[in-house]
Amino acid sequence: MKKKETDNSLDKIISLCKRRGFVFPSSEIYDGFAAVYDFGPYGVELANNIKKEWWKAMTQLRDDIVGLDAAIFMSPKVWEASGHVKGFSDPLTECRKCHARSRLDALLEEAGVFADEKMTEEEINHIFDKNKEKIKCPACGASDFTPGRKFNLLVQSNLGNFTGDWIKEPTYLRGETCQGIYVNYKNVLDSARVRIPFGIAQIGKAFRNEITARQFIFRTREFEQMEMQYFIKPGDDKKYYDEWKEARWQFYLGLGINPDNLKWHKHENLVFYAKEAYDIEYRYPFGFRELEGVHARGDYDLTQHSKYSGQDLNYLDPATNEKFTPHIVETSAGVGRTFLAVLCEGYKEEELEGETRVVLKLLPKLAPIKIAVFPLLKNKSELVSKAREIFDKLKLTWRCEFDDNGNIGKRYRRQDEIGTPYCLTIDFDTLTNSEVTVRNRDTMQQERIKIIDLENFFRERL
Ligand code: GAP
Repeated sequence: MKKKETDNSLDKIISLCKRRGFVFPSSEIYDGFAAVYDFGPYGVELANNIKKEWWKAMTQLRDDIVGLDAAIFMSPKVWEASGHVKGFSDPLTECRKCHARSRLDALLEEAGVFADEKMTEEEINHIFDKNKEKIKCPACGASDFTPGRKFNLLVQSNLGNFTGDWIKEPTYLRGETCQGIYVNYKNVLDSARVRIPFGIAQIGKAFRNEITARQFIFRTREFEQMEMQYFIKPGDDKKYYDEWKEARWQFYLGLGINPDNLKWHKHENLVFYAKEAYDIEYRYPFGFRELEGVHARGDYDLTQHSKYSGQDLNYLDPATNEKFTPHIVETSAGVGRTFLAVLCEGYKEEELEGETRVVLKLLPKLAPIKIAVFPLLKNKSELVSKAREIFDKLKLTWRCEFDDNGNIGKRYRRQDEIGTPYCLTIDFDTLTNSEVTVRNRDTMQQERIKIIDLENFFRERL
């Protein structure tokens, strides 16, 4: 087997995702719905496995972090207090010729001019004016734009507005999941017997009116976040910030990401809630981009919610009787971005006797299917029933797939493409010697294993 120089171009990943049922464009039969995607049968398994790993790292393996699942809808006051109604925006410009809307900072960056979405309107328009001739509309190529203006990213809903009078302010779909954690901080403190330092972890959907939709599932308007907020004593910020940076870096190594494809990016220009912000970036096919943010949020969030709600959100230290507003260190990762990073990392093309094998080298814990079970021939009922018997046993412990369709080579290729670590074939010898062939995805080596030993074999390897 010869290793081919792998071109992890985004198009190949997108094609694999569609072909094998990982990701579909939303509402495809109606020509799609921009920047929204659906996870298909293998995609939902992979996404669930990523979430399971995160949840385990954040809750099961920690005795200082508890879980939460807050609702997507919250009081409109939450988004006023959090600063999102006023300050959660990206700079937008419109092409005067074709009316396509673009993110101004992205247009400038693509033209090699430094810009940042957190710049004020004046700052970014000043840079825009100086570089106008370099910027072309990505849709029509014209160079005639409206001045940049801040465009709020919160997605409004009409929830509760049907009576016309009982909710005056607009209600929003949440723009980040962590607000559900802040507004429940006191409930958790009073019920879960936690003491500072402690964390609250949550996985859930977030929604943003992203101006431009590009790069597949990297930037979508509906996405899932895995967020953990760690509540600490003021002054301990640096210690815990450094600890969480390290823990989050290690998490990605644990998902099989090569450290050469990761790097830290420090934000010089900070978003309104942050005192310090670093991103873990992954080398996607379109360059290094943010995978996760680790933010020191200080006392910003609890102070704001205390001010707007009128509730005392201070913490009384039972040991010292000291009262203070806890500071927060946040780790915030996207399920979709982790999913894409894991796919890019695992995607390999290998040259095999004149043909190309596409294989997803996912860690077994992430693989959508752990074991595929094949009867050699589908029209031999004794092979099929033996294979079913084995499948029915293994499925109690592992996510397995039964496949009796097509020749064995084709079945192997299909499982390689979805990252299945082991395939198991039941043939005529199985009926006499109770052995099956187990084929390893990465080495493609096959070995005969006694049926009675299969569970131990897989337990050691999966
Ligand atoms: N609570 C902090 C927060 O939301 P963020 O940097 O805006 O911070 C955190 O988002 C993470 O959420 C990002 O690192 C990314 O993984 C994911 N994310 C943000 N916007 C996204 C989008 N439009 N599509 C997909 N994932 C997104």
